[in-house]
Amino acid sequence: MTQILLLHGPNLSQLGSRDPAQYGTATLDEVVTVAREQARAGAATLEHLQTEHEGEMVSRLHLARTDGTDAVIINAGAWTHYSYALRDALEMLDAPKVELHLSNVHARESFRSTSVLTAVCDGVIAGFGIAGYPLAVRAAIDLLDRRGP
Ligand code: DQA
Repeated sequence: MTQILLLHGPNLSQLGSRDPAQYGTATLDEVVTVAREQARAGAATLEHLQTEHEGEMVSRLHLARTDGTDAVIINAGAWTHYSYALRDALEMLDAPKVELHLSNVHARESFRSTSVLTAVCDGVIAGFGIAGYPLAVRAAIDLLDRRGP
């Protein structure tokens, strides 16, 4: 079965009450559930990690190189904009990678328009709130289908 790894970076644990105008009112559990349901519909399983610690996410990406992870969906939060460590860890990973954001990062403060991750991901989904999660799962499965066995 296809294994998708969904990663969330710092402050995304606070979804539901964090700046609802930007991020909506769904909690982290709710966005993960929506993603998991879409994965199930595509005959995939979804594992989730949220962490406030950059090194933990880097280590999880290293593990993903060998633990059977087929695709990664990553909402790296603010690390998106400056973490070369995450960028390098993603670059090492051969699996398809989808960068995901709840908000339209290009319509906000200028520092959010820069992502150091985009160049090492297959594509980006941003600005669709919780609806972006099933889109990201479908994109990951589609990328895997296109790669073939
Ligand atoms: C975010 C956008 C980032 O700029 C921000 O730091 C986040 C959330 C999003 O999902 O829209 O923490 O990744």
